[in-house]
Amino acid sequence: MKWPFRASSAHTREQVDPDEADRPLPWFLPMFIGAMVMWGAYYIVETPSGGDSLLGDQRSLEALMPKAEDPSGAAKVDGAGLFGAKCAACHQASGAGVPGVFPPLVNSEWVIGDPKVLARILLHGISGELSVLGTVYKGAMPSFKSLSDAELAALMSHLRSQWGNSAGPVQPERVKAEREATAERSAPYEGEAGLKAELGL
Ligand code: HEC
Repeated sequence: MKWPFRASSAHTREQVDPDEADRPLPWFLPMFIGAMVMWGAYYIVETPSGGDSLLGDQRSLEALMPKAEDPSGAAKVDGAGLFGAKCAACHQASGAGVPGVFPPLVNSEWVIGDPKVLARILLHGISGELSVLGTVYKGAMPSFKSLSDAELAALMSHLRSQWGNSAGPVQPERVKAEREATAERSAPYEGEAGLKAELGL
């Protein structure tokens, strides 16, 4: 375009460039955010800290403890887990034992027989001559007195129903009765003979 400029018809036809209108936040939004921040600060300051860590959790510690002595809790004790933790090292996970050293629990007359006898073996242990499935062992089985009635019952029920064993389950009351009947005993049974003598078999 040459000097002097003249508005061409094309120029006058153009619209002005649009520009962004001034649109502030709606007034209630910053107020609402401000109110929330203030409420948050108030909540943090006002909430007792260093106090009860169970804030909001109304259960008592007692309610959370396992009920070991509760007979109905027997089913909840994991007999298989106890076996793995306490017995499998000697008697093996398969329950087959180690020939000549640790007797088998599979089919053993002591396991599938009278639960009274099994309970006493577990409560006090046994050492000396013990015949299992026609083989005489001469080892030392430790006492598991420290386990609760429910734990021993679950353990016994587990042994009696594993590896093809099919004897009935044992209730914690049964273990409790044997524990009370033999409360005086502080040493393991002296072999099969000692166990049978005590039971009058
Ligand atoms: C330190 C190794 C050891 C551990 C652990 C052990 N036992 Fe024994 N157990 C033995 C020995 C050894 C005998 C044989 C005792 C004897 O010869 O007088 C035996 C005998 C037995 C018997 C009677 C014989 C039979 O085979 O039926 C039973 C039942 C039994 N144990 C169950 C258990 C259970 C259940 C546990 C776990 C709570 C356990 N044992 C943990 C070593 C052990």
